Amino acid sequence: MSLPKAELHLHIEGTLEPELAFELAARNGVTLPYADTDALREAYRFEDLQSFLNLYYELMAVLRTERDFADLADAYLTRAAAQGVRHVEMFFDPQAHTARGVALGIVVEGLWRALEKSVETHGISTRLIMCFLRDESAASAMETLRAARPYLDRITGIGLDSAEVGHPPVKFREVYEAAARLGLRRVAHAGEEGPPEYITEALDVLGVERVDHGLRCMEDPALVERLVRERIPLTLCPLSNVRLRTVDTLADHPLPAMLDAGLLCTVNSDDPAYFGGYAGDNFDAVHRTLGLSEERLRELARNSFTASFLEDDEERRAR
Ligand code: HPA
Ligand code: ZN
Repeated sequence: MSLPKAELHLHIEGTLEPELAFELAARNGVTLPYADTDALREAYRFEDLQSFLNLYYELMAVLRTERDFADLADAYLTRAAAQGVRHVEMFFDPQAHTARGVALGIVVEGLWRALEKSVETHGISTRLIMCFLRDESAASAMETLRAARPYLDRITGIGLDSAEVGHPPVKFREVYEAAARLGLRRVAHAGEEGPPEYITEALDVLGVERVDHGLRCMEDPALVERLVRERIPLTLCPLSNVRLRTVDTLADHPLPAMLDAGLLCTVNSDDPAYFGGYAGDNFDAVHRTLGLSEERLRELARNSFTASFLEDDEERRAR
């Protein structure tokens, strides 16, 4: 589906395709515990979010140098451009790299090599969103925010990801307050595996402008009403939900009901190398399986620009 669209929920580490993983492993002298790309792909059978995260963090071992991060981002931008993506607000997980001894500067400068020229090379404008791992401590998140100070001209906002249940948004109240004082935009994953209360908390305690996933809002009609009234965008990821068993099958996905309820939904790819598709593939899948009309698809594409952090003039250019 090549409809022009913005991708607002994309973990750059989740775009690491098996072929590139092996190429980077060879380049960096890292041994992966898989015989080849087929054996690695066999491991892509997930029970839940945690079983995916285990592999996601394991494979990051191959990312070591600025060039690796630049190559990763460039490979993503090439694929995204072919599927109509005109703007991406890209998540990255600094703590997953600093914990392995890869400095934050290597990650940001490496990604920046690809992003700073992406309008010319791929026709895609970009923003970077630094995510904190919610299963790590609030002190670690605060230290990461401090370490990011030299790079804030390259970082638009902060997010919250990794294992959700048992790690409510309130844990990161002070970090989000500090980020707000620095002028950073705020988003957070909430209501993927966690309960609807986490969505409310992300809005009220963390001051997020947009909710990543937010799927489980559908269990709380009063919350749905609020999200509609306040025009809070949700960044849904249908193929991710199927692979991580948040929904039983794509045919059971609540996206049509969410649109009917008046929610500001967007469709995104999350970790496309792991979940079977990039942004356009997600659009195709909801078109085919959920029977969404062309008009609904155009609404989703429009929503993606409305929900983005683009300025009005940039937004008009990207659409
Ligand atoms: N949820 C939470 N954390 C993540 C995800 C996700 O879908 N992808 C990468 N980190
Ligand atoms: Zn995500």
